[in-house]
Amino acid sequence: MWLLLPILLYSVIFLAVRHIYSHWRRKGFPSERAGISWSFLHQAYRREFRHVDAICEAYQTGRERLLGIYCFFRPVLIVRNVALAQTMLQQSNGHFSDLKWDYVKGYRRFNLLEKLSPIFATKRLAEMFGHVQRVGDHLISHLLDLEQAQGGALEVDLQQMLRVYAINIIGSLIYGLDVNNFEQKDHILSSYVSRSAGNASSQSFTLSRLPQKSSFTYRLRDLIKQAVEHREEHGLIRKDILQLLIRFRNGNDVGGEKWQVDMKNEDKLLSIKRVAKVAEDLLKVSLDSVSSNITLTLFEILQEPLIVEKLQAEIKELATENNVLKFEALEGLKYMDMCLKETVRKYPPLPIIERICRKSYTLPNTKFTIDEGITLMVPLLAIHRDEKYFSEPLKYKPLRFLHAEKSDECQSNAFIGFGIGGAQCVGQNFARMVIKVALIKLLQNFHLELDAARAENIEISHQPAPFIRTKDGLKVRLKRREIKSKFYN
Ligand code: HEM
Repeated sequence: MWLLLPILLYSVIFLAVRHIYSHWRRKGFPSERAGISWSFLHQAYRREFRHVDAICEAYQTGRERLLGIYCFFRPVLIVRNVALAQTMLQQSNGHFSDLKWDYVKGYRRFNLLEKLSPIFATKRLAEMFGHVQRVGDHLISHLLDLEQAQGGALEVDLQQMLRVYAINIIGSLIYGLDVNNFEQKDHILSSYVSRSAGNASSQSFTLSRLPQKSSFTYRLRDLIKQAVEHREEHGLIRKDILQLLIRFRNGNDVGGEKWQVDMKNEDKLLSIKRVAKVAEDLLKVSLDSVSSNITLTLFEILQEPLIVEKLQAEIKELATENNVLKFEALEGLKYMDMCLKETVRKYPPLPIIERICRKSYTLPNTKFTIDEGITLMVPLLAIHRDEKYFSEPLKYKPLRFLHAEKSDECQSNAFIGFGIGGAQCVGQNFARMVIKVALIKLLQNFHLELDAARAENIEISHQPAPFIRTKDGLKVRLKRREIKSKFYN
């Protein structure tokens, strides 16, 4: 009897596990051979398992458009074909979870993300540009001070500097603070940067899996509470993202031209807690995506002096008004745009797009049905590095995007670094503005040099997941450059 019990228990577990791992075979989908090895368990236990690498490896096996895999005990369907991913996510009409930030107030249900997207409209960004330039100037003055203090020869970890630049942007525009974390090292935003640098969560390999709350949530909420109450009480206007969130909270239009908050009703559309949640979510998606893009653009271009020359020539020709750089002039930086896009292609800050099937979905013209609850993954890192879509995918070639529609070097629709279809990144124009300002200012003010031998050994990965970064920073030598361009700011 006593012997029978463990045998029975073992058999039940064995059958249950076998049932789970036969999901894709039973459903008729092409799938990987499933199983749990000791090395996998060991890595998972030590939190060393690299989800992103494992999913990219799975992408590379086989030729089918869909591949069933298992993330621990979760059946996951990998979409290996861009056109199919686009059809599924754009035309599936509510079958898959979407980017919504769903929000219910009274009886009304909002797609909050859609409502807030006009915050990032060109006209709004143009008016926020002054704050971005100021934050850029803080970066340059900090580097110049360091250079002076060290007698001219300066070597810094630019990845770390650019994370501080990004948090200063977030502090200024999302939290509405005139804070300079290069100087105020004890500020809560400074602590956020240093703490989040080493935070790894074994599950957060896509945006939807980022933890909802951080240990900073309450302190960040206090910042928002103070700022919102202060502005509402005194009718203050500061042209930033927070101002537009306050307008939305008070039922005012976020698009348009007005910045003034019209406090027409007592009943707020968003509570302070909710405004703080939106702000923290924006912080989480923007901090690493922005800083990694600038860092990795520099990492690549500093190994190609010709690219740097071209960028410097483009910056020199920028249109100015009374010697001041205007937001509209950024449009003229066509080559820089291609560099940023090439960086997002080669090093997408988010390696995977994930959706959950909400209503069972039959793929058009096939026998395949995806059941409710199944996770769908579009491995955009693997797609961006697939020879089928981009020639010599590991080479940094910004010009591949010059005539992307008729180019042999890339399939223009395969670039999905800002997401797919209607669920594209709402902050992409904001990101471009902020990235360009940092690059303009750095290339304008400094000669930057990356040691070739060191560059070879730099390890870049999505570890800690989900965002990409270099393992040990990016050490770059800086030397002051005589400014020859037509503008000051
Ligand atoms: C180079 C920089 C950036 C890249 C490559 C990027 C890429 C992406 C991608 C691929 C998605 C879609 C994720 C999905 O479909 O699951 C996304 C979503 C989003 N992005 Fe960006 N992003 C960048 C910067 C920013 C910035 C600076 C902001 C805001 C200030 C921002 C705000 C958002 C928001 C709010 C979402 C929706 C997130 C959610 O559903 O939780 N992004 N981004």
